[in-house]
Amino acid sequence: MGLPTFAAQFSNLPSMKFFIDTANLDQIREAQALGILDGVTTNPSLMAKEGIAGDDAVKAHYKAICEIVDGDVSAEVISTDFEGMVREGEALAALHENIVVKVPMIPEGIKAISHFTENGIRTNCTLIFSPGQALIAAKAGASYVSPFIGRLDDISSDGMDLIEDIRNIFDNYDFGTEILAASVRGPMHVIECAKLGADVMTGPLSAIEGLMKHPLTDIGLAKFLADHAKSNG
Ligand code: G3P
Repeated sequence: MGLPTFAAQFSNLPSMKFFIDTANLDQIREAQALGILDGVTTNPSLMAKEGIAGDDAVKAHYKAICEIVDGDVSAEVISTDFEGMVREGEALAALHENIVVKVPMIPEGIKAISHFTENGIRTNCTLIFSPGQALIAAKAGASYVSPFIGRLDDISSDGMDLIEDIRNIFDNYDFGTEILAASVRGPMHVIECAKLGADVMTGPLSAIEGLMKHPLTDIGLAKFLADHAKSNG
């Protein structure tokens, strides 16, 4: 047996968490069936894509997601004022113990995150595009910050630079805030996030499935099966 790896010498290192970024129940079930799913993130656009509209339908949908996955489920508020966010967030958090209230990175949102932190409600600060935004969200006690990698890449910026900056800042302190790399578009985003030490990645099912694919695996398996068939008739 060889020497333990550097990482293995620190057995308290956490595993990278995999969330799926969708409100589609079939895709959530598919990712859950792989046995690697740690949670779900949604946003108002993803809910609209599934045709989920109206307060009751939205709440029923979040409950349905919580029944599929035993992990954190981010549910986003629509209000942009402190009172509205608190009202909505408290109602969402009451739906299930795994609900994490997703709050936009605006000053009213930071006030709401501070309030939720004081009251034991977990939060995910969304629409993070700079290290300063991540720092203030962590200071307010956010459970997660969601830097949007893909949307930075879309405007010829580098989403990974942001992940690296936030990692460096958070490693200097003990905020307890996890870096949830969001707006992940494909498997290479996941790999880069893992190299930089993002705590969590959330992406579409295709990004998770992309991690498993390699043409040499398919060619190798076809050869193994062909050789087995030849010698076994
Ligand atoms: O849930 C927030 C984020 O992941 C959105 O991703 O692909 O719409 O930029 P995208």
